[in-house]
Amino acid sequence: MSDTQSIRVENLVKRFGKGESLVNVIDGASFSINKGELVALVAPSGAGKTTLLMMIGCVEEPTSGTIYLGDEKVYDNRWLTKETRKIRREKIGFIFQAHYLIPFLNVIENVTLLPQTNGISKEESQNIAMELLNYFDIADKAHSMSSELSGGQNQRVAIARALANKPQIILADEPTAALDSERSIDVVKMLKKIAIDQNVAVVMVTHDEDMLPLCDRILKIENKKVISIDAKKSGKII
Ligand SMILES: Nc1ncnc2c1ncn2[C@@H]1O[C@H](COP(=O)(O)OP(=O)(O)O)[C@@H](O)[C@H]1O
Ligand SMILES: [Mg+2]
Repeated sequence: MSDTQSIRVENLVKRFGKGESLVNVIDGASFSINKGELVALVAPSGAGKTTLLMMIGCVEEPTSGTIYLGDEKVYDNRWLTKETRKIRREKIGFIFQAHYLIPFLNVIENVTLLPQTNGISKEESQNIAMELLNYFDIADKAHSMSSELSGGQNQRVAIARALANKPQIILADEPTAALDSERSIDVVKMLKKIAIDQNVAVVMVTHDEDMLPLCDRILKIENKKVISIDAKKSGKII
């Protein structure tokens, strides 16, 4: 594995159920994503985007195949560690369509939660959080509650929270679906800046064609496999 590669998946298969109710979702996907890359993952609804993201994120167990995260092989027809939770916590930042901020904690408490769970001191966690909130131009909201923020502001906090752990990989499942087009562009540009500044891979599921030109590459699930498309030459693909 080269040191520019962040994610590599080989012959990944995912089936749900058995017998009559067997659903074959991913049937032999192979691809890789480099550090610093913002990749859009597109496919029709039900095609397996979330399932694929959750397998890369060590949440959903594949049926078979191989997954490398950074230089660590984490799955080879079985999880290679009992501690998939540790991998998630240390390597991966998740961003969802809804921000899922904890309503009874203020902004900075939401952002410091994960680093503190990872054993980082309260003071250092707060420094990390303030740095991120500054980076996202939302430091003045550090002591506000989520309910006092707009949708775009909440999503920026959710992205800050995903980064607080200094993850190597950011997995974002339709992060702009709840935002208007201007806010969506802001969020995607932010994800691209993160990919470059922090040298991490960002995989973003999106249904929004307008976001594709902002991405470096498009991965499309087609016939239960994953194909790579140059974002600049994409045309109409969703
Ligand atoms: N836990 C599960 N049990 C059974 N089938 C599932 C489960 N999760 C997802 N699926 C099925 O897998 C397919 C892909 O789902 P999903 O990954 O959510 O698609 P997408 O995110 O592209 O809309 C769908 O047919 C869905 O019904
Ligand atoms: Mg989905």
